[in-house]
Amino acid sequence: MDFIVFTPIPSFFGFVAFLALLALDIRRRRLALASILRLPVLAIFDLLPPALTAGVVAALIATCYPEASDRGVLPLRSPSTLGVVLCLAFFPVVWTEGRKQIQFQRPFGLLFAEWLVFAGAARILLLVVFHHPGDAQISRSVLFALPSILAGGALIAAVVPQFIKKYEGLRILERVARDEQTTQPEYTAATAECPQPGLWRMLDSQTTEVEVLDFLKTLVTTVKPKLVVETGTFLGHGTVKLAEGLKENGFGKVITIEFDPAIRARAEERFKACGLAPWIESRLESSLETNIEGMIDLLYSDSHLANREAEIRRLLPQLDPRGLLVIHDASSHFKIVRETALRLEEEGLISAVLLSTPRGVVVAQRREGRH
Ligand SMILES: C[S@@+](CC[C@H](N)C(=O)[O-])C[C@H]1O[C@@H](n2cnc3c(N)ncnc32)[C@H](O)[C@@H]1O
Repeated sequence: MDFIVFTPIPSFFGFVAFLALLALDIRRRRLALASILRLPVLAIFDLLPPALTAGVVAALIATCYPEASDRGVLPLRSPSTLGVVLCLAFFPVVWTEGRKQIQFQRPFGLLFAEWLVFAGAARILLLVVFHHPGDAQISRSVLFALPSILAGGALIAAVVPQFIKKYEGLRILERVARDEQTTQPEYTAATAECPQPGLWRMLDSQTTEVEVLDFLKTLVTTVKPKLVVETGTFLGHGTVKLAEGLKENGFGKVITIEFDPAIRARAEERFKACGLAPWIESRLESSLETNIEGMIDLLYSDSHLANREAEIRRLLPQLDPRGLLVIHDASSHFKIVRETALRLEEEGLISAVLLSTPRGVVVAQRREGRH
């Protein structure tokens, strides 16, 4: 078999391409060199697949080049050419997976595991296409390909199930403990009502979009609420914006409700650090059991999707008729919340405006407030 062996010149090109892609990937992940060393080993391995794939492509092209330039044509029936085609077809997959890993807190090691499976499968495909009966390369190829596929499969089996079991918010919490949060393009896919979600920014997939956070503060400075209630504190970014508005107004309080102790503890650290704790009452309880004294002027509903209808129905009677109900995650991605808002409107309880943001926001008021 005409097997691929990298001589020094293709190896050099491969190495340069590997380093270039590695640097590019590190840059798009906004990783400082010092923080890379603090990453778990599997997360460091996840930086390798795009760089390795680019390195192999460059080395293969450099391998084909002398023959192609001598003959004046690309050798179509050669392992190098097929290798380039396979790597180029696989590259967008690893590159996109890398982006998803940043946005969705995918399990560490998954990308590297997928690459191991790809590398093994590609080697077997080359063998099937190019081997000649009795070829001595067969056993060497199989010796490389099988362990690669098995190692990739074993890694996937080890990391994926325990990842799926954990609530996404807790995964973000773990990551935030290690890395600073930075803004990145919004993660949700386009919807009919919001065809360009990439125009918005987010810190993570659980925290309210950056622009909507600013909108929350503006709502507070615009309608001057005395009592604001937020269901679902998470890392406290929404609470902080609401509290910033209250501080600017010079009066009021935000009660924020979170039922996960670890998440709530992290949010409390943020409240103390930003000096807004006096404007915030942070409760460790469920929105479905909380008791609020007095009337609410602004209710921001942002807990788990499945809890929304029950929590809104529970708190709506306490919403001042001149007050505002803001429901997050009401886009057509999150039908359960959108349908709740539309149902409450059909029942004559609220009048709603659906803002076309990536995750969707409903701004509503009680019907009896419309005089
Ligand atoms: C989408 S995040 C909230 C994001 C936050 N409001 C912000 O603006 O960044 C949802 C949070 O609600 C919490 N949660 C979910 N259901 C809840 C409930 N019924 N009561 C209290 N907290 C809840 C989850 O633990 C999670 O931290």
